[in-house]
Amino acid sequence: MNATIRPLSQSDYQAIRSLYEVTGAPSPEHRLSALHWLRDRNPRFDPDFDYLVAEVEGRIVGYWGRMAARVYHFGNPIEVVFTQEALVDPAFRGRGIARSLQAKSVEPSERPMLSLWHNQKILSLIQSEGWLKLGSFRTMKKIYRADRIVASRSSLPLSGIMGSVANALLRLGRSLSSVRRPTTTNALKAVELSRFDRRADDLFTRVAQETPYLCERTQDILNWRFVDIPHKRYTVLEAPPNGPLEAYAVCRIQHADGLRKGIIADILAEDENAARSVIAACDDLFTRQGVDFAVCHGMQPAVERAFRSLRYRPARPLPIDSLWVHSSQPLPDADHPGAWHVTLADSDGEMW
Ligand SMILES: CC(C)(COP(=O)(O)OP(=O)(O)OC[C@H]1O[C@@H](n2cnc3c(N)ncnc32)[C@H](O)[C@@H]1OP(=O)(O)O)[C@@H](O)C(=O)NCCC(=O)NCCS
Repeated sequence: MNATIRPLSQSDYQAIRSLYEVTGAPSPEHRLSALHWLRDRNPRFDPDFDYLVAEVEGRIVGYWGRMAARVYHFGNPIEVVFTQEALVDPAFRGRGIARSLQAKSVEPSERPMLSLWHNQKILSLIQSEGWLKLGSFRTMKKIYRADRIVASRSSLPLSGIMGSVANALLRLGRSLSSVRRPTTTNALKAVELSRFDRRADDLFTRVAQETPYLCERTQDILNWRFVDIPHKRYTVLEAPPNGPLEAYAVCRIQHADGLRKGIIADILAEDENAARSVIAACDDLFTRQGVDFAVCHGMQPAVERAFRSLRYRPARPLPIDSLWVHSSQPLPDADHPGAWHVTLADSDGEMW
């Protein structure tokens, strides 16, 4: 099918909103607000690497999300393009629209192209178009209220009993792990922060020097991503409250399917001790708010150790935890995604 592929413009937003409505995708209004924020307020917006739309006879029938971003390889900036969102009108599916959008999205460019996807159809499409899977990020998870999770997954009358058993096992596991839990002798005090400032830039610069791959986390990116976002409210915790910043964590609570999910959307820390201080502060918040379980995706090894010491455990990676790169512009030493510490729009389902 002959579709015109071109960059998205603001005047297409309503068409994209309608596309969401046609496909029955959740909350078109949310999508509209997210699109405005992702493109128009993004401090790294670059029109050369913008969203693409497919147009047939003046009608928008599909789009492909892309955005310019900066990652740091041991402190050296590399301009990249992230892509991770696509949608085609059901009436036009199976006619090569997504394939044409993808082809245009990787047209020769100096920049490495990275992507994260969770849709099986798109995964088979990108694999056939020269994208290579680098591997999966680490995901850590903690169960707070096993009974409620069991109950939400089962309508059987047994669920109450199963839930009690699950909770008893969870308590037993906690008492055993608390015996082994390392004591935090020099815990830093963590406090809530309203806005990132120069201290975040300094922390980012220090950590980036030591980290194989780190997505940009300067104050303007962090404020855009977590503070000025119009459709979500995050709590930002930092430690210590004064002097050089040693760690921050960004979290929120999502209500889904009758459960309360704690999301640590981002965390950056100088070392394990600093990481433990901000994770413990998230943990307190989650406990006070009756969270059922909590997750965090993609992290530095020191942060993972801190999570483990606070009874988080590795979770089975989801498809969205896999990082893909287009083979035309490989990145140095990028074949080990455990070395990646990524957060863009991906860490909390922002691009879809
Ligand atoms: C996934 C989607 C974008 C594909 O769009 P499309 O225009 O129909 O795809 P194309 O016709 O270009 O097909 C390209 C490739 O996608 C894959 N694909 C498309 N439809 C498929 C299907 N029904 N089953 C399996 N693979 C499929 C195939 O690899 C196909 O290659 P082929 O044509 O050589 O078989 C579209 O189905 C869609 O919008 N799905 C729902 C939205 C969604 O979940 N988006 C992802 C959120 S990030």
